[in-house]
Amino acid sequence: MNEKLTNNSHSHAKLDVIKEKSLNYVIKTFDHDLSRVSKNILKQKQFTDKTFGNTSLISVPITEVTKQSKKISIKMPYIDGLNGSDIILYSHRSNFISFLSFIESYFIESFKKIDYKKIDSSILLKKIDDIYSNMRFKISISERKITSSINKTKNFTIPIGDCHGDFTLDNIIMGNDGRFYLIDFLTTYLETPLQDFVKLKQDTVYGWCVRKLSKSDQTKANVFFDKIKALPILKKIEIEYTREVKILNLISLLRIAPYVRDKITENWLSYHLNKVTRDL
Ligand SMILES: Nc1ncnc2c1ncn2[C@@H]1O[C@H](COP(=O)(O)OP(=O)(O)O)[C@@H](O)[C@H]1O
Ligand SMILES: [Mg+2]
Repeated sequence: MNEKLTNNSHSHAKLDVIKEKSLNYVIKTFDHDLSRVSKNILKQKQFTDKTFGNTSLISVPITEVTKQSKKISIKMPYIDGLNGSDIILYSHRSNFISFLSFIESYFIESFKKIDYKKIDSSILLKKIDDIYSNMRFKISISERKITSSINKTKNFTIPIGDCHGDFTLDNIIMGNDGRFYLIDFLTTYLETPLQDFVKLKQDTVYGWCVRKLSKSDQTKANVFFDKIKALPILKKIEIEYTREVKILNLISLLRIAPYVRDKITENWLSYHLNKVTRDL
């Protein structure tokens, strides 16, 4: 159990499973960017449960927060079940069908509760500037190239509304109790369901969760990714917000750069950033 958690972890956080009175708990400890971490914890705590038809979606409850001077730990129940990439790679087809229908409902619901807002491109440019100043490895795309492309569009129409913030397949757990659970929430510079849309693309279009796996596992996953990409609601979002999605998608990929710690991820990111930038 512990091994699975550690292998899946990309952030700096440390994950442990402990047993208390025959129940399993996950302890996640952060030692970076603690003010941001506190906001993320709050976001997970404040998430309102949702019901779609006969499935329900909740955020995994955080039952304890321990703050030390340079660390924050959270405690939450260990959810028995499968995360999104387990479902795609190792699970029965019927689980995938439920997962697919969950994804569809999630986006239909998120896009019901939005307010359109025209935002100035300066919000996006500021974010890009932040990312470039925290960069840990040299990427071949210059900040200027990106900003000049963004500057071609003065105003962006963004559907403002709730989002998870890091809606990758590994942050979704399909519980053995039939419920869906979200973990690892992230506050963003722009709260829009489009953030969840581009994070999902990070897996289904660019193969984030399978980047370290064998070619044959990647091929297998692609069959499922294609089915997710074909969901009518996702097609609709892509068409309706083409320009906004392109920019948020690029920023979302760029945001990975400050956390890159291995060569596979570095190559993966460079390759896709180049492609996405060419397509702006
Ligand atoms: N409460 C939990 N119950 C079951 N599995 C969990 C739980 N929390 C984390 N995991 C597993 O560990 C992985 C990494 O946890 P996560 O909180 O997303 O860390 P990271 O910040 O490294 O992405 C998840 O993808 C999931 O498979
Ligand atoms: Mg995660």
